[in-house]
Amino acid sequence: MIISSSPRREGNTDYIAKLAVDEVLRCGAEPIVVRVYDYRIEPCRGCRACLREGCCVIDDDFTNVLAGKLMEADAIIIVSPVFFNSIPSQLKAFIDRTWCLRGKLRDKVGGVIVVGRRYGHELAICTLHSFMLKHEMILGMRGVAIYGFEVGEAAKDTQGLEDARKLARRVVKLAEIVKRGIKIM
Ligand SMILES: Cc1cc2nc3c(=O)[nH]c(=O)nc-3n(C[C@H](O)[C@H](O)[C@H](O)COP(=O)(O)O)c2cc1C
Repeated sequence: MIISSSPRREGNTDYIAKLAVDEVLRCGAEPIVVRVYDYRIEPCRGCRACLREGCCVIDDDFTNVLAGKLMEADAIIIVSPVFFNSIPSQLKAFIDRTWCLRGKLRDKVGGVIVVGRRYGHELAICTLHSFMLKHEMILGMRGVAIYGFEVGEAAKDTQGLEDARKLARRVVKLAEIVKRGIKIM
């Protein structure tokens, strides 16, 4: 599963997500793409009903569509723009809502790619890695930082693009290893 989280359609984030999709396909896997801004995702209410019910009680696209997609995925790559040294609000809402999936994302493989003008990449990566580690997911590689501001600029960051392809390959490979149940030392 490849999550693209910019409100700006066809911008740098969607470009990198597409690059990751192409690389995953080249590796023989079948990625699905989720643009979080295409879905109606309400913020977590902190109501704790999920502790009682085992699922979220909010009737929206997270509960009805995205929770299922997350649970089906072997691997999750998040591609996000950097917003105020962090992540966009819709992606944060999406992440908060996964509280109801405690224990259900364990051992899925994760990877993070962020794109921004200049500042805050590491903090955004850290936020997304923390989300994955909270769910006891497995990180295949350190996060990738790509530099770009206006549409098209990320395509010029050749080192970033190469690292993004490497991350996609690594995530697919590690997901295969986990699926086969080979012991990782
Ligand atoms: C609300 C907002 C906040 C931003 N904050 C940062 C920031 O803190 N650091 C940074 O390097 N770039 C920041 N940017 C720039 C974006 O990360 C950059 O333009 C990125 O390429 C956007 O991806 P997109 O083309 O997919 O929308 C910000 C952009 C917006 C709209």
